[in-house]
Amino acid sequence: LDDARRDDSQRRLGVWLIGAFGSLATTSIVGCLAVAKRFAPRIGLVGDDPRLAQLGLAPLEAIVFGGHDVRRSSILDEAVAISSENGSLRREWIDQLRTELTAVDRRVRTGVVGAGGGAIRALGAPAGDAEDVPARGCIRRLSEDLRAFRNSERLDGLVVVNLASTEPPPTTAESTESLDALESRLDRSTAAQVRAGTLYACAAADSGAAFVNFAASGSCLTPAVEAYAVRATVPVMGSDGKTGETLVKSALAPMFRARRLDVMSWVGFNILGNRDGLVLSDESNKRSKLGTKDGVLPAILGSGVRTRVGIEYVESLGDAKVAWDHIHFRGFLGHPMSMQFTWQGCDSILAAPLVLDLARFADVAMRRGECGPMLHLASFFKAPIHCDEHDLHRQYERLFDYARRTESKRS
Ligand SMILES: NC(=O)c1ccc[n+]([C@@H]2O[C@H](COP(=O)([O-])OP(=O)(O)OC[C@H]3O[C@@H](n4cnc5c(N)ncnc54)[C@H](O)[C@@H]3O)[C@@H](O)[C@H]2O)c1
Repeated sequence: LDDARRDDSQRRLGVWLIGAFGSLATTSIVGCLAVAKRFAPRIGLVGDDPRLAQLGLAPLEAIVFGGHDVRRSSILDEAVAISSENGSLRREWIDQLRTELTAVDRRVRTGVVGAGGGAIRALGAPAGDAEDVPARGCIRRLSEDLRAFRNSERLDGLVVVNLASTEPPPTTAESTESLDALESRLDRSTAAQVRAGTLYACAAADSGAAFVNFAASGSCLTPAVEAYAVRATVPVMGSDGKTGETLVKSALAPMFRARRLDVMSWVGFNILGNRDGLVLSDESNKRSKLGTKDGVLPAILGSGVRTRVGIEYVESLGDAKVAWDHIHFRGFLGHPMSMQFTWQGCDSILAAPLVLDLARFADVAMRRGECGPMLHLASFFKAPIHCDEHDLHRQYERLFDYARRTESKRS
């Protein structure tokens, strides 16, 4: 075991971020380096729970970042912009990490917009190639980028995490197609006709990388895309990181259920002003997000509860997202009462440690030869695939069970 541990400590884990110049990717990269170098306090990593120690997660020091984006920018510039906007990334950390961040910038490759919708295209002229290339050729090019990263950085494992802007939902035909139908669609389409999420997920599978969909883009994990990944024997999980209002809902709703209180309605309203919010102000992109956010309460409280979720873009707020929730419920003798809460979170600060955790959990799954959905990671997602359990506490038990099973296999 000691030998195995020593080997583990020398591993190099590649984490490839789709949307590498985004706020969340930048915060994940700067945050990982700042914590690894002890500039910043180590707070908010689920993987640090002692009950998970036996999983032997890769240390933050072992992570090497690369990624794709469709805008021209740099992680260094994005980090400086975040620092001056809200101070969540300290300027002195960025200055001390200049060499490392420049090295990551050199590993960011041009991504693909695909059929991502006008809101994503409007983010900036795509830095990308012409997208009238065949979809197959595009997938090959993306997976070549991943292979080159794996080889040049001498990586022991590779995890792709989708942090790109949320796309509109896949069509019903795409959501229900078979693997064969997906294959023939890829054969006859150009890259511009296929959702980028599908192109990236197939490229990850082709290059033997695990895939985590942190965005709400359903095209990354349709049943056909999942089957594509299973055939390539890689682990996958998603969708849509559970970091704010939905996290609170999934922790609080079980309390109402346990006390047999009758929740009549639960209405939540979110306002945010970052680039994510700008893309979500497009009705078709917003539909993806509303879909992942609105399934949690009926799953815990039953279909009788009336729910409504709103998302509005308010530019002045930047990354400081505010959610206001109103819960109307009845108690003993049918007496009505209410609860309200306001959640104010820095979106990327809430999400970045989860990105680092998910990459390291996916690495463990790969090392253990697991493939397909990583159901033990359901607690990290608003809409975990193949999981009807939305109670946060029960979802965490699944993660601890997974770790306990590891322990019993070892002993
Ligand atoms: N708390 C959170 O921050 C949180 C929680 C759950 C989900 N998410 C999701 O994570 C994603 C990232 O959030 P963010 O705040 O960093 O957004 P962001 O807008 O700052 O970053 C998105 C990045 O993706 C890039 N991009 C867009 N389309 C792309 C494509 N097809 N290929 C490659 N790059 C592409 C953009 O250029 C941008 O740099 C969003 O989808 C968001 O909904 C965030």
